Amino acid sequence: MARIEKDYRRAVIYQIYVKSFCDSDGDGLGDLPGIIGKLDYLERLGVDYLWLTPFFPSPQHDNGYDVSDYCAVDPRYGTMADFDELVAKAAGKGMGIMLDMVLCHTSVEHEWFRRACAGEERYQRYYILRDGRGASGPGDPGEPPTNWQCAFGGSAWKWEPRLGKWYLHLHDVSQPDLDWANPEVRAALADVVRFWRERGVTGFRFDVINLISKPEVFEDVPGSGAACRALVADGPHVHEYLQELVASAGIDGMITVGEMASTDLANCIRYTRPEDHELSMSFSFHHLKVDYAGGDKWTLMEPDIARLRETLRTWQEGMQAGGGWNALFWDNHDQPRAITRFGGRAGVGERGGSWERVGKMLAVCDFFMKGTPYIYQGDELGMTNAGYTSIEQYDDVESHNNYRLLMERGATADEALAVVGERSRDNGRTPMQWSAGPGAGFTTGTPWLEIPATSELVNAEVEVGAEGSLFEFYRVLVALRHELDVVTEGAVRFLDAGDGAPKVIAYERTLGDERLVVACSFDEAPCATADLGVAGYEVLLGTYDDAPSTNELRPYEAVVWRR
Ligand code: NOJ
Repeated sequence: MARIEKDYRRAVIYQIYVKSFCDSDGDGLGDLPGIIGKLDYLERLGVDYLWLTPFFPSPQHDNGYDVSDYCAVDPRYGTMADFDELVAKAAGKGMGIMLDMVLCHTSVEHEWFRRACAGEERYQRYYILRDGRGASGPGDPGEPPTNWQCAFGGSAWKWEPRLGKWYLHLHDVSQPDLDWANPEVRAALADVVRFWRERGVTGFRFDVINLISKPEVFEDVPGSGAACRALVADGPHVHEYLQELVASAGIDGMITVGEMASTDLANCIRYTRPEDHELSMSFSFHHLKVDYAGGDKWTLMEPDIARLRETLRTWQEGMQAGGGWNALFWDNHDQPRAITRFGGRAGVGERGGSWERVGKMLAVCDFFMKGTPYIYQGDELGMTNAGYTSIEQYDDVESHNNYRLLMERGATADEALAVVGERSRDNGRTPMQWSAGPGAGFTTGTPWLEIPATSELVNAEVEVGAEGSLFEFYRVLVALRHELDVVTEGAVRFLDAGDGAPKVIAYERTLGDERLVVACSFDEAPCATADLGVAGYEVLLGTYDDAPSTNELRPYEAVVWRR
């Protein structure tokens, strides 16, 4: 079997949220045979690697990011034989498989945690256990050791009577953090990565990997909100631990990406500079917080495009200057759909509706930047937010926690639902829209998460092969990424589109004599742009059918000019 190892700088990665991609057996959950059945579709799109979200045994409190066995396939998703078949068949079509390694925490049902609770000290040293504050003695919980809040709302500590200690969980209460300061933990996790490498996996995505090295001293975070991410992110030994993991798992040179929570530019440069032998690239999220009022995900505001431009500029030009490499993306299974977020109305109008215009514009903006682009399943079709009208339709633990917290803080049920409607991670987790009709071609059974009404209009069946469709547009973009050296290697510099275009993001890519100018309008109205220096250039690509103007962009238009 061919091992698929490609130049990560030229590759396009497709993220598959396994649970929602394709259900082969009618149980309402996507599965590995379902993915095998869609390899022709993925080959047609032209992508190089498939990143599969966790399909390991898990109680599913956090949809598989709570792993109870790192080296097996959860029967609800298939068998190890299905996995081997997928690796082999994908390789036959030129696609590598990247696995999602959740190494910062396990599930409470993982054998290590169970043995810790059963009294084995060896496994107690695998987790981060502390006495309570103000505890009078053994058996008295006292108060949580610090005021830290977990990512999904509520304290980051849980009292475990069997341990007589509090354990740290930066995410759900069912996800105790592993103690990477223990060398035995690090060795065991390297074994996990090696196990999958030996099964033919040729790339990895590492979940919240910059949270693995905890601070030397655990102190309260000032204030009452007490989100502790910033305190824990990019900790004192994180680079050393990553280098060790990469070396001992034998994955140096493979395509790897780290998910970096609350990170900064300087650290992401270090994570991704080839000479440091850590990772190929990093996901950072600052550009997706431009619609968080006061930095709070659960307080709505319109996206601030000036801030978006500044954030992209900082990361594009900054990573370039430091020799780092960005993962480029708008969507994943933790984000509401970017099309909705940036103004596209779901399923309104026929082809050419705002959902499709915004979808094409966002794709151009991403694909021509410096880094490696990721397509999240359904991006290539123009999938939008779920559009649910009741809290019962949501599944995600974070959505339910925050719905409750919003009401505790005084919101009415309708107000809380409206916020969840915009911000829920389930917006990005609705089943893949393969066709119109019940089940959307995703399942013949009852889907685990309801299918949005937009599947009638936005689906693969109508878009594949249809001239001008978003799917066909993505195929062109993928092909251009493979072809154009200037997009892979060229320098990037952001351009000023002028006062008449406050919602336009423009940048250039240059390599030798070649110059591309990319202009993307996030404006629902037409706007006048400054001179971008494209007189005499050819139009490489545009998102409208007819020719663009060099001094005006139409609603949500994107254009790429080439010298
Ligand atoms: C990031 C994953 O993408 C998300 O889905 C998960 O809830 C957290 N990490 C915790 O593993």
